[in-house]
Amino acid sequence: MDRIENSPRADWAVVILRRTVRGLPLGPVRDVLHGRWLGHPLHPLLVQFPIGVWLSAAVLDLLPGHHRAARVLVGAGLAGAAPAALSGWADWAELRRPQMRVGLLHAAANITGVACYANSFAARCRGRHLRGEAWAFCGLAAIGVGGALGGHLAYRQAAGANHAEEVPALVEPGWHDLGEVADLPEDLPRQRQIGEIPVVIVRLSDGQVHVLSARCSHMGGPLAEGAVIDSCVRCPWHGSTFRLSDGWNVTGPATAPQPAFETRTVEGRLEARLPSRYHASERNRTSPATTDTTSSSATTSSRYSADAEDDILEQLIQQHERIRRLLAETLDADGDAKQRFFDELRGLLAVHEAAEEMILRPVAKRVVGKEEADARNEEESSANEALAELEKLDVHSEEFNARLIAFQEAVDDHAQHEEREEFSAIGARCDIDERRSMGRRLRMAQRVAPTHPHPAAAGSTAAQWTIGPFAALMDRAKDAFRSTGGP
Ligand code: FES
Ligand SMILES: [Fe+2]
Ligand SMILES: [Fe+2]
Repeated sequence: MDRIENSPRADWAVVILRRTVRGLPLGPVRDVLHGRWLGHPLHPLLVQFPIGVWLSAAVLDLLPGHHRAARVLVGAGLAGAAPAALSGWADWAELRRPQMRVGLLHAAANITGVACYANSFAARCRGRHLRGEAWAFCGLAAIGVGGALGGHLAYRQAAGANHAEEVPALVEPGWHDLGEVADLPEDLPRQRQIGEIPVVIVRLSDGQVHVLSARCSHMGGPLAEGAVIDSCVRCPWHGSTFRLSDGWNVTGPATAPQPAFETRTVEGRLEARLPSRYHASERNRTSPATTDTTSSSATTSSRYSADAEDDILEQLIQQHERIRRLLAETLDADGDAKQRFFDELRGLLAVHEAAEEMILRPVAKRVVGKEEADARNEEESSANEALAELEKLDVHSEEFNARLIAFQEAVDDHAQHEEREEFSAIGARCDIDERRSMGRRLRMAQRVAPTHPHPAAAGSTAAQWTIGPFAALMDRAKDAFRSTGGP
């Protein structure tokens, strides 16, 4: 299953289908299909009907003399499959790439199942019962495979899950200080932290200050990077909007509202707390995680340290996630947005890889071995060349997309190697103080790293320290010139 999630082989189909589904003029029907009105994804509910009647038909097929009833059930299942499929596609188009890959297979298995049942129905109508039963059992097998893939999608990959569900378990009851109110800009979201939970704060022009949990309930998108429109915050990933006053999901695809905090101002400082109803329902649960919130916080804290701010591994992992997202967004975007995503991707990748070569790689050489470290440098050098080639192309050309798909695969492969081999070895062999010190140096290196690809410096720690700063000066001057409207 991991291989399916990570394989970009069918990404061309993902891109085309996603664009098609998103382009359908569904209007408000789209939110109906997501299940926003229900507060729960609609798709898992709708699939119960065809699966239920087809299973019943299978039982009748095993008993003598129920041909007519079985035929009616097979036909009813076919009718019920259409809305289930429609809501499934609407949800699928708002997933992340690894989920979409599994979702595509899930859909393929179900389409095969439906085709088998259509043949079964046709055969039964012609009076060929044995043939109809054979088709129906093939259909049931395909639907079973589809169900297993759907289970993986929902439970392992958390598609359709409420990504803000854990908030009450991780926020201590009582008021939490969030800093000076005067420091907050008007109508712009700002991110702060309450314990483990990032929160988004918005001070509206009427003076009211609102605080919501910052990870979107749909797929965990960063609301602090979203836009504030009509007293709502809009998620930058798939556009769900949440009312700032109470977290209500005014538009989908999110089907769950966003936890909203109560706020007050004490001597010019903002304080926030979760309304007591959250903690009351949390206390009523029986899970061990909620009987001891301290230990639950500890286990769900950042992967390598409690101080995620400075730890080099946390910084790099977050950047990997951002890079993966930007690659997918660049591939999917149209118009000006495509260039914007690519510019951000190019800058982040150039800075990220240069700083890794300057700070991380010498340590990796020591803890993982020269061979591994050289292999990663080699990959970075090739990626730099590929990025330089991409930078020369028109982002709207066919060639750009084809090359970007191959590049995406190489970058993902490289990042996985780093995470599996280098990061885990450094996590095990270097203590937190050492990693924080590396993290601080990484930040400094990133401040002076080139923002465009420079194959002459890539793949070598020494070249990054010598050529890199000069290349960076030129890059940053070029970026500043462009931002003033230059060519
Ligand atoms: S993550 Fe999908 S709308 Fe926010
Ligand atoms: Fe790298
Ligand atoms: Fe990396």
